[in-house]
Amino acid sequence: MKLVPNASYLFPLLALVAAGCGSSHGHGGPLGHRFEDAEEWAPRWNDPARDEWQKPEHLVELLEIRPGMTVADLGTGTGYFLPHLSRAVGETGTVLALDIEADMIRYVKELAAKGGLANVQARVVPFDDPEIPEGEVDRVLVVNTWHHIPDREAYSKKLARSLAPGGSVAVVDFTLESEHGPPKSERIDPERVAGELRAAGLAVRVVQESLPDQYVVVASRP
Ligand SMILES: C[S@@+](CC[C@H](N)C(=O)[O-])C[C@H]1O[C@@H](n2cnc3c(N)ncnc32)[C@H](O)[C@@H]1O
Repeated sequence: MKLVPNASYLFPLLALVAAGCGSSHGHGGPLGHRFEDAEEWAPRWNDPARDEWQKPEHLVELLEIRPGMTVADLGTGTGYFLPHLSRAVGETGTVLALDIEADMIRYVKELAAKGGLANVQARVVPFDDPEIPEGEVDRVLVVNTWHHIPDREAYSKKLARSLAPGGSVAVVDFTLESEHGPPKSERIDPERVAGELRAAGLAVRVVQESLPDQYVVVASRP
């Protein structure tokens, strides 16, 4: 059965859309739309009501995130996923919280300190490079961020190199059909995302029905 978001948590989602979450043609020039003020976005992105449609624990299960793993949250924003990822990898694991915006990284460092998320390492990365050493990560989670990356085939190759044996990248974004999410003209067909990741030599599967409004493209190191 397809869940339909109700008004109580649709508001923050609509606000997110209206503010151009999906825009790659905003005021940021070659970097696309910029998210420079974490406090402006945190109430919407970190709204606990988001759990109902984003299903973070379901994603942790789907991606088989296990204790001891190193997981990157690429485009971490205000760190909505960090408590879930931190708990899943446990004391022996590491979560890399990566974003191009210095204020997002400032915010998630404070969030991690306040929440006792000792296994979270947050850092600013360039728009065209996750700067993850070769073979370092078991999972890369990319939620509502893939469409902001300009040259995605080149970027996919960098992500593929960063994966440990058995590692995978998961791109989560709004489906073309969904009534929610960024303007339809700015969404990316999951098959196109799959092609971009496949071009980097990864084995790709598209999961369509797992979340109410989003697809999940999982790309694994063969
Ligand atoms: C719509 S937010 C999503 C935040 C978070 N993933 C979530 O789902 O709550 C997109 C984030 O990606 C970041 N971002 C945009 N382009 C990026 C890039 N090329 N590399 C890393 N982060 C990027 C933005 O600064 C922003 O914080």
